[in-house]
Amino acid sequence: MFGFGQLIGILKKNPKKIVFTEGEDARILEASSRLLASNFLHPILVGSEEKIFEAAEECGFNIRGAEIIDPAKYERMDEMVELLCEIRKSKGMTPERAQKILLQANYFGTMLVKMGVADSLLGGATYSTADTVRPALQLIKTKPGNNIVSSCFILVRPSATGENEVLAMADCAINIKPTEDELVEIAWEAAECAKIFGVDPQLAFLSYSTHGSGAGEDVDKMRNAALKTKAKYPDLPIDGELQFDAAVSPRVARTKCPDSPVGGHANTFIFPDINAGNIGYKIAQRMGNFEAYGPILLGLNAPVNDLSRGCNASEVYSMAIITAALA
Ligand SMILES: CC(C)(COP(=O)(O)OP(=O)(O)OC[C@H]1O[C@@H](n2cnc3c(N)ncnc32)[C@H](O)[C@@H]1OP(=O)(O)O)[C@@H](O)C(=O)NCCC(=O)NCCS
Repeated sequence: MFGFGQLIGILKKNPKKIVFTEGEDARILEASSRLLASNFLHPILVGSEEKIFEAAEECGFNIRGAEIIDPAKYERMDEMVELLCEIRKSKGMTPERAQKILLQANYFGTMLVKMGVADSLLGGATYSTADTVRPALQLIKTKPGNNIVSSCFILVRPSATGENEVLAMADCAINIKPTEDELVEIAWEAAECAKIFGVDPQLAFLSYSTHGSGAGEDVDKMRNAALKTKAKYPDLPIDGELQFDAAVSPRVARTKCPDSPVGGHANTFIFPDINAGNIGYKIAQRMGNFEAYGPILLGLNAPVNDLSRGCNASEVYSMAIITAALA
């Protein structure tokens, strides 16, 4: 079952570099000082060296040894501008526009990953999800074979037996109204992500209906998406459409879907849209006492993740480890 020790173990064998786009933020500085005290993940802070050291001193965090890169003074800026123009040439990117865009830490940091200066990126302590994710969609792009970038949350709760209870929920943060085919991709990626966290994925395509108890376009979408996913990945335990109670309660499953391969014990939940997904994971987090890790972006060519603007330093530290371990 999932523990951070395993991810740290992966990084200790193969240390990585992670870019933080908000180098002056106190939470980033605190997490960086913790990372610097170990030696498995090296932080790169984007911003003005003077301001970053000033902020660190003010907050009392030791960031000695951190790599600081100031976009305004970056010695490889010409190379970066050229590469950005090449990547965005179909969008009419000019060197003048590229120079301007690259002074923004979210684009600059993403290009550091693109150029291989860093292995991964974590942003969003002050940027919105859209502003953190958009540069990654435009510059890092989807990995070969994927059509979309999606996301999942990993939810962790200690159980009475002492073992962590671990669930995956997708897509709660990126695709606003996924199609049936996009749900197939989201389900596969979420299942793969769940495995990294020690979950043997049992997928439920969630709806307000269980096996035809309700009717409507959204019910059809989830049923068809489940059928398409089963056809594509016959070895993956999948069912849908299922209501949440039928998916997690063995008692309810016995009544509503007695033949379901996952009913009553599903652990990887595929939501019909971002409204349901985002509300759903937050209910588990706020009322079900689960720790929520994510959104973990899935289907990108390199790991980039987004923090909640309300995050604390400990969440930054955890997400940095998750992000880098995925590299
Ligand atoms: C992810 C998101 C920001 C993209 O929106 P956007 O920037 O307005 O998207 P655009 O349609 O302008 O696309 C920008 C680029 O990203 C690409 N893109 C957009 N969504 C994508 C996806 N899901 N997967 C892969 N690429 C995607 C587009 O193809 C486009 O590429 P191009 O510029 O090379 O042609 C948007 O879907 C969004 O806001 N989602 C919800 C985020 C949110 O608020 N979450 C809740 C908080 S956790």
